[in-house]
Amino acid sequence: MTATEMKKRNKVITLSQFIAEEQQKFPEASGDLSKIFRDIKFAAKLVNRDVNKAGLVDILGEHGSTNIQGESVKKLDVIANEEFINSLAAGGDCCAIISEEEDYIRHLNKDAKYVIAMDPLDGSSNIDVNAAIGTIFSVYRRVSEVGSEVTEADCLQKGVNQVAAGYVIYGSSTMLVYTTGNGVNGFTLDISIGDFCLSHPQMKTPDLGKIYSVNEGNYNQFADGFKNYIKQCKENSMSARYIGSMVADFHRNMIKGGIFMYPATGSAPNGKLRLMYECNPMAMLTEQAGGKATTGNQRIMEVEPTELHQRVPVIMGSSKMVDELVSML
Ligand code: AHG
Ligand code: MN
Ligand code: MN
Repeated sequence: MTATEMKKRNKVITLSQFIAEEQQKFPEASGDLSKIFRDIKFAAKLVNRDVNKAGLVDILGEHGSTNIQGESVKKLDVIANEEFINSLAAGGDCCAIISEEEDYIRHLNKDAKYVIAMDPLDGSSNIDVNAAIGTIFSVYRRVSEVGSEVTEADCLQKGVNQVAAGYVIYGSSTMLVYTTGNGVNGFTLDISIGDFCLSHPQMKTPDLGKIYSVNEGNYNQFADGFKNYIKQCKENSMSARYIGSMVADFHRNMIKGGIFMYPATGSAPNGKLRLMYECNPMAMLTEQAGGKATTGNQRIMEVEPTELHQRVPVIMGSSKMVDELVSML
């Protein structure tokens, strides 16, 4: 029985069962990717726990202060970063990590073949106000030989080379959504059993939606094409929805249909969002769900990366909406 059939018959299928089933379709697979998912899943549960206690900040101490145990309190994005790195390091199947929270490549097991790019906590300005936040990750196969030192070329690969991509959303429920290039599947964390269970098999985004998501506070700095598109959205009485957590804005638009943009502005000529651990993974997910992701000039996943923390303007979501906006640029 396929996972989708099991879901239809209300049979619970956990993320680990689902991954094991997927892996069986590739008898030559080493299983290392499944182990990467095991480590990501574990770290996601730790971050979920920590995010849930974020409201206890008065008891635990403000960021940068000293808590009642006399320990200095770290920012949640630093904690999430450590949790993901520690889990992937302990698992031993990751050779290097690029993280929003690290200036340089973090070298792990050189005998492993996978590189991870991640934004351990996305939307961190929303932590203090109890709105949804997330983790974004992407997995690449290194290009240099296993056993040698990891190189920059292993880490700076185009998005089209991603082996897997996904995010965790810590929202009204916690979900892990991922793709390995075979469609997108979503799993909801059932805290009573401590496991992610398949809740959204084969996610597809509508070709057309009614939502546009952009930080309109930057409107005056946008190029005319964006201004005209936004005016048209208003004339058509579309809904403006923007939380300021890319994961949450993306997740909503993927399910309901919509367009998400972070264009270039006068002060940020390449936009704000990062290619390696924000735009590429989301681009792979949106394409796998039937949507599109572009800089306005180029498919996101074909952008040649030159720096770990490079930024790119991004337009992504429902395919007809993306096409329409690009035609106006
Ligand atoms: P992060 O918290 O990882 O720094 O990312 C925040 C990002 C992204 O989640 C969101 O879409 C965008 O910043 C919001 O930026 P503005 O506040 O400029 O709209
Ligand atoms: Mn982010
Ligand atoms: Mn972040």
